[in-house]
Amino acid sequence: AKDIIIDCDPGQDDAVALLLAVGDSRVNLLGVTTVGGNQSLPKVTHNARAVLEAAHARDVCVHAGSARPLVRRLRVAAEVHGETGLDGVRLPEPVRPLDEGHAVVWIIETVMAREPGTVTLVALGPLTNIALAARMEPRIVERVREVVLMGGAVHEGNASPVAEFNIATDPEAAHIVFHEAWPLTMVGLDVTHQALCTPEVQRRIAGLGSDIASHVCGMMDFFRRAYRANRAFPDPPVHDPCAVAYVIDPGVMEVRRCPVDIELAGIVTAGMTVADLRGPEPDARACHTQVGLRLDIERFWNLVVSAIEAIG
Ligand code: BDR
Ligand code: CA
Repeated sequence: AKDIIIDCDPGQDDAVALLLAVGDSRVNLLGVTTVGGNQSLPKVTHNARAVLEAAHARDVCVHAGSARPLVRRLRVAAEVHGETGLDGVRLPEPVRPLDEGHAVVWIIETVMAREPGTVTLVALGPLTNIALAARMEPRIVERVREVVLMGGAVHEGNASPVAEFNIATDPEAAHIVFHEAWPLTMVGLDVTHQALCTPEVQRRIAGLGSDIASHVCGMMDFFRRAYRANRAFPDPPVHDPCAVAYVIDPGVMEVRRCPVDIELAGIVTAGMTVADLRGPEPDARACHTQVGLRLDIERFWNLVVSAIEAIG
């Protein structure tokens, strides 16, 4: 199994991503770190712990990280995720206490303690913790296997017409993370807007009949209402599990290697991920970044449903 660390801000879709990581035996979840994003740091940290409790994953540690972006003010996404950050569900109180030690320190220690080239960083929120880790211990950059992140987009936006929420929340952190030399896969809105939790998908999940399945359905009901009200989507895009799915099964999406830069100075474009798709496609030695462009929708949901089923 691939060793992964998930850095996240749960978030209904972060929650599903955690379940995918817990339920699929092809990844080994070393621990979870949290970052202020969808909601405040205390709220998303509690949510991460509650999701792991509900998934019977008390062996997975949770370390809280950065409460706010490097430079900018945190503007949470309560209209999409609710006041708790995880509206639509009442999860059990976590039994495992919050682990001690800052997320950034724990990420560094974990990566440095493991074999080189074995740990994948999966980032599902603003990139604040990952950027700080790279600055605090630059040796992690060549030591991790790869960075796979949900964020950005080649052709779309949600926080603004051209910027995605995770990148727009902390563009300076994203700039650091995209410019470090590690192999990086950007799973952006081009991909995740294809991962819609349709009524058919939700019936499959509900049909599993377990507590965890009904928790997921509660979250998706709220997420659907929020996306209908705020974003004119008929069904909610379940962004974050797309990044975990790519780590488990790279064949789940079409990727294209290309340089990506982060707009920091734009008056109307701050936080935009500027992907240079002018050909020819560079090879891995010339370019360390790639972007997801298309999702195998059936294959993706099969992974998610099987993982929820495996949790039982
Ligand atoms: C991203 O922003 C958050 O609202 C979601 O959890 C996801 O990580 C989508 O733009
Ligand atoms: Ca997220």
